Amino acid sequence: MNRTPIIAGNWKMHKTVGEAREFAYAIRNHKVESAVEMVVCAPFTSLSALAEELKGSEVRVGAQNMHYEASGAYTGEISPGMLTDLGIHYVIIGHSERREYFAETDETVNKKAKAAFANGLVPIVCVGENLAQYESGETKAHIRNQVIRAVEGLSSEQTKQLVIAYEPIWAIGTGKSSSVDDAQDVIGFIRSTVEDAFDSQVAVQVRILYGGSVKPENIASYMEQPDIDGALVGGASLAADSYLQLVQGVVGGK
Ligand code: PGA
Repeated sequence: MNRTPIIAGNWKMHKTVGEAREFAYAIRNHKVESAVEMVVCAPFTSLSALAEELKGSEVRVGAQNMHYEASGAYTGEISPGMLTDLGIHYVIIGHSERREYFAETDETVNKKAKAAFANGLVPIVCVGENLAQYESGETKAHIRNQVIRAVEGLSSEQTKQLVIAYEPIWAIGTGKSSSVDDAQDVIGFIRSTVEDAFDSQVAVQVRILYGGSVKPENIASYMEQPDIDGALVGGASLAADSYLQLVQGVVGGK
């Protein structure tokens, strides 16, 4: 099964509209030698400008969150339809920072994943264990629970398109990346969890990314692993040259 690898930048709370446009100018004409999906997940304020600047390019634009309702009295929220209206393709759901600081739960992650598909968006669902869980050997039990709850009620066809990002919380923004073997071990386990919840046809198609201190220097070693289909990258995705090096690194690793 050939799964197209993805490099998804997660800008978090960075960049003005002008800075986002500059980034788009720097990457939009980039041609990759083999199939790599280039994705940039930006703050809501920059999405419209990015969608405009990257139209017709190979780069897809993603949001970092959304509400699951179509509309209503939810001050400060953004609906799925508002994102598709801009030409947005992906939406990150359940990033650990949203789970930790903004009360995202497995239940809202599931509602958002369903709402994303219902509106033609592809969710990038994030899962990951914290340091205490990692140190006490609870990683797999925790990840299995997060994955099962995220995909509850999705159809097989939807889950085949789903992107899952495995991001150990202790590795995010810390410079401490998971070892390549550990990342492959957990990501292979996520694939078998999807197989248990659906079947092998679905599991072989779902794309699973690693995230947590990925850099141009270490991307190729993750990409050599059989179950790792790309990366969700924070810090190293902010500068256009670093982002493009990550994309090149994927080509080198597969
Ligand atoms: P990082 O962030 O690459 O800066 O560790 C990854 C993420 O949070 O998605």
